[in-house]
Amino acid sequence: MRIKIIGTGSFVPEKALSNAALEQMVETSDAWIRERTGIGSRRITETGTTDMAVRAARRAMEMAGLSPGELDLIVVGTSTGDCLFPGTACEVQAALGAERAACFDLSAACSGFLFSLNTASVYLEAGTYRTALVVGADTLSKTVDWSDRGTCILFGDGAGAALLERTESGAEPEAGGRKSEDAGRENVDRPAAGERESRMGPFLMRADGGRGGVLRCQAAPLRNPFIKEENAGDFGYLSMNGQEVFRFAVKTVPEALEELLAKAGVPAEDIRYFVLHQANERIIASVAKRMRQPLSKFPMNLEHYGNTSGASIPILLDELNREGRLGRGDKLALAGFGAGLTWGATYLVW
Ligand code: ACO
Repeated sequence: MRIKIIGTGSFVPEKALSNAALEQMVETSDAWIRERTGIGSRRITETGTTDMAVRAARRAMEMAGLSPGELDLIVVGTSTGDCLFPGTACEVQAALGAERAACFDLSAACSGFLFSLNTASVYLEAGTYRTALVVGADTLSKTVDWSDRGTCILFGDGAGAALLERTESGAEPEAGGRKSEDAGRENVDRPAAGERESRMGPFLMRADGGRGGVLRCQAAPLRNPFIKEENAGDFGYLSMNGQEVFRFAVKTVPEALEELLAKAGVPAEDIRYFVLHQANERIIASVAKRMRQPLSKFPMNLEHYGNTSGASIPILLDELNREGRLGRGDKLALAGFGAGLTWGATYLVW
């Protein structure tokens, strides 16, 4: 039995907010933002998290050739749904018409997609479900204080999706879409036939709630007959100790990857791509150095989209897939980190 990705999709809003535009809003510069983060622009939604999630999901479904009625499970990794309830996954279900699917959201901030992917794959592996739609979708633009130059330059909105299917060994469709072909892929050594069977796992998920204060966003304040109005507090903006988060990321991400690869029994040299959460180019470069792997194995798109939180990994995965850069048997290591603090990693053979 194998769990594999049979379709990917992504969506980013049309409206772009460039560094030049931010220069007009806060005291910053294109040069500072590029040098410290690698970000040049970000996309901002006018429709919200559910709309982006649905568009990304439709693209993944289309690629896989799967009808909504065949969907067993929908998990949306998001911390910025349009509503506290119903959950985004239920709204996606309604938009797709996936009436049979069980639906829930998973909140792990920027680790949301990875945690959702791992969770869904366990349901499939247990035999509970055969197919699962996993979406990472976030609207960080509504959580930032647009007058705070320390945070507003970092984030963008978007959604990405992956469609998982459980298949019996030897009876599986081509990875990355039932219709996909090898044509157009980069000319690289491919694994031998025996090692080319698509699969997912091992994976790891970690959290350190004790350090949650370094990256936080308050939800609705308490309002009830026992709380005095003046003590109620406000809806908060995202607050972050950037240097702490930076230090946390450059330590935990390589450690997680090393542990993951040891568990998988795969040397880092064998990994075709490390698909990392797109928060900061310097964080990614530091992870590459620590892993002693060339930066070319660490694809990036954060220059165009900024940090899209739970959406960043599936957007990147979809871009790699649609550009024909993933071939059957390619070994991938996914890793992310975010508020919580949370971090995790997933090994998969495409
Ligand atoms: N433009 C110009 N100057 C700025 C800006 C800005 N946008 N922001 C901060 N500065 C200034 C600071 O005020 C400071 O000035 P000072 O020296 O006069 O005090 C100086 O630049 C240096 O500030 P630092 O905070 O030390 O800058 P640093 O090099 O650490 O970069 C950054 C800041 C980009 C936020 C970095 O710390 C970082 O990327 N951290 C990780 C953040 C992250 O990944 N967050 C997402 C987590 S995922 C999730 O779950 C949402």
